[in-house]
Amino acid sequence: MTTPDTPASGRVPFNDLGRSALMDTLRAAVDEVVTAGDFVHGRAIGSFERQFAAYNGTAHCVGTSSGTSALQCALAAVGCGPEDEVVTVSATFVATAAAIVHTGASPVFVDIDPATRTVRPDQVRAAISARTRAIVPVHLYGHPADPQELSAIGAEHGIPVVVDASHAHGATWYDGPAAVHADVSCFSFYPSKNLGAFGDAGALVTDDADIARRARALRDHGREDGEVVAAGHNWRMDTVQAAVLGAKLPHLDEWIELRRRAADGYRRLLEGTGLTLPAVAAGAGHAYHLYVVRHPERDVLQAELARHGIDTRIHYPRAVHDLRPFRAFRTAPEGLPETEALARQCLSLPLFPGLTDEDLDAVARAVRAALRTVGKRAAASAGPADGAVPAHPYRPTATARN
Ligand SMILES: Cc1ncc(COP(=O)(O)O)c(C=O)c1O
Repeated sequence: MTTPDTPASGRVPFNDLGRSALMDTLRAAVDEVVTAGDFVHGRAIGSFERQFAAYNGTAHCVGTSSGTSALQCALAAVGCGPEDEVVTVSATFVATAAAIVHTGASPVFVDIDPATRTVRPDQVRAAISARTRAIVPVHLYGHPADPQELSAIGAEHGIPVVVDASHAHGATWYDGPAAVHADVSCFSFYPSKNLGAFGDAGALVTDDADIARRARALRDHGREDGEVVAAGHNWRMDTVQAAVLGAKLPHLDEWIELRRRAADGYRRLLEGTGLTLPAVAAGAGHAYHLYVVRHPERDVLQAELARHGIDTRIHYPRAVHDLRPFRAFRTAPEGLPETEALARQCLSLPLFPGLTDEDLDAVARAVRAALRTVGKRAAASAGPADGAVPAHPYRPTATARN
């Protein structure tokens, strides 16, 4: 007999990219590009850019080859370069900081709010110096980093806010898209993202015509109206990716709604279990790219969940300022305790639009069973009077690729 506490035997994958009712439509979109042969600079690019700008409530969209190149292109377009500083977070995927470093600028890492896992505006304010050229908040896991407060800080100091919105397609702030508040928002269309391509792709959106013009030139070898106006790059989006994204975009809101329903289900089923669940700030429309819980015994919990067939990931196991290439950069003077705690404790549960109620139940049962084991182990390791500490048999089993 199963009870609510009996772990389910069914396996729950972390994601399922092959399960899409849209496959025929997507194949037809790719076919059109193949037939037209316009693989680079193709028609589907302009058409997707117009669609995605409208979706974000912005005047311009510039498609790029990846989320990383969108960030680099945006930072270069707002003028970041050597000698500059960029205030950002360390609780993010390494690409955010790498894009800053590749412009020649230095990241300055500040801490996050432990509830929303996004940047603390007071720390951004405190970190601004005469050298600050941009502020780069990250809408981590899909929760918007206070767009109004950050754009007010940017405006006060005349510093552009360039958001890493790679996790946040569909995130809103009060009654509109979060992107309308930033100078530039950058997106990744890595296949597992809320809006995913059939490979790598990215885009930036902005209301600023000059930024959009510079970004268009920078992504295409510095070319503008037949002239080379800058030493540019090849950061172009492939036409095939634009066609796939254009066919998927009309479904994005429906998929975000399914993600939100799954997140509500997790909240209902997991509240009171001892996990710290994601919080949502007033005004924030969380896009739930990831459903990230926290627990002090995260590695044991992950291994136990794997034993019960529940596939989880860690986003991200190390804070960026703790990675070798980034250790030399400045951090907030008080350190980044909340960022470091998140890296030690975060665990991403399965979340994708096709997740069923049965999947949610299976995860919740497994979590309860796993937490019982965690509790028993904690009691046992507190046990021996001679102070002997049992060897820890658990290691993280799955970290995220990005
Ligand atoms: C927060 C964040 N920023 C930037 C990127 C880089 O995007 P891409 O892999 O498309 O270059 C990712 C990708 O996973 C990301 O999660």
